[in-house]
Amino acid sequence: MAIYGNTISAELGAENTGHRDAESGTDTLDIIPSAPHPTPLANEVREGLQKTPKRLSSQFFYDAEGSRIFAEIMHSPDYYLTRSEYEILNTHKADLLRYVTPDERPFDLVELGAGDGLKTKILLSYFSDQKADFTYAPVDISVDALEELVVDIRQKWPDLRLNPRHEDYFSALEHLSEAADSRKIVLFLGSNIGNFAQDEAIKFYRQLHDQLLPGDLVLTGFDLQKHPAVIHTAYNDRQGLTRAFNLNLLRRINRELSANFDLAAFDHYESYNPETGEARSYLVSQKNQTVRIDAVDMDVAFSYGEIIHTEISRKFTRKQIEQLAQETGFNVTGWFTDCKEYFADVLFER
Ligand code: AVI
Repeated sequence: MAIYGNTISAELGAENTGHRDAESGTDTLDIIPSAPHPTPLANEVREGLQKTPKRLSSQFFYDAEGSRIFAEIMHSPDYYLTRSEYEILNTHKADLLRYVTPDERPFDLVELGAGDGLKTKILLSYFSDQKADFTYAPVDISVDALEELVVDIRQKWPDLRLNPRHEDYFSALEHLSEAADSRKIVLFLGSNIGNFAQDEAIKFYRQLHDQLLPGDLVLTGFDLQKHPAVIHTAYNDRQGLTRAFNLNLLRRINRELSANFDLAAFDHYESYNPETGEARSYLVSQKNQTVRIDAVDMDVAFSYGEIIHTEISRKFTRKQIEQLAQETGFNVTGWFTDCKEYFADVLFER
């Protein structure tokens, strides 16, 4: 099973399989050269830690450990988002199938940021039981998460057509129009849209609009604005999972860029501003300190209390969602919420 778009591990589980030397007939182990710099992470660190205030993108949270912690967050009692969306998909799976199959045309279920596919499996299971004619194309930047998902799906639904892609969202969008004979249903679940700034969100839907054809659909999971304390607790959970998730970024930089961040000298801080609907995560330096990052040849000074902004998680009103659709050329054709109205899965039609 090939996972496209990944240059490091083209085959499932094949980190360094070596090759058979054609002339000598002996097996040799390919030496993978040390990661070239600049890597995307090196660029982010070089640029982001020179800004005021310092910042690093949450896109880099998802190494193997980050993906593992995020999976724990999704099951945690304080992080209501996953439970709410699970309830929505479970309650409305039959309605959703009716929306995506108004005729007999096969469809491609393209999931951007699939992760462990926890919620999507509700749809895969129901759509398979109903003998729907579709291909599931999960897209994720974490090769580890994608590999696990593919193995699990192969076991559960051996006959399901699968087309996994190891890519970021934007490169995946460029391939969307390749198979034009099937209707495209793009899933962008889990409030991933909340991690985009407003201009990025607009760019994202405009790009989707360009790649899709009339009648294609986008199902997006939006976290809705609600009591600020509920939101704040979700990102400042009592188990300390969000804290570990945020700090893991420094561990990743230590490992991949030969840095010496002392994790005990940084703290996690979360703010939620109900006026803007923005939850923001920060890492806070607990003392004056200088961190060495060999791979980018930088010494970064931090003063006591200085922050690195690492994530934005936006919460929406219905009006903002309708405006987003309108501004980017889509019609809102379906609106599904959980019983508490914490979360909405919204269908945009191209
Ligand atoms: C992936 N994303 C939608 C999550 C969110 O809620 O912003 C990531 C996350 N950050 C902290 N907890 C979960």
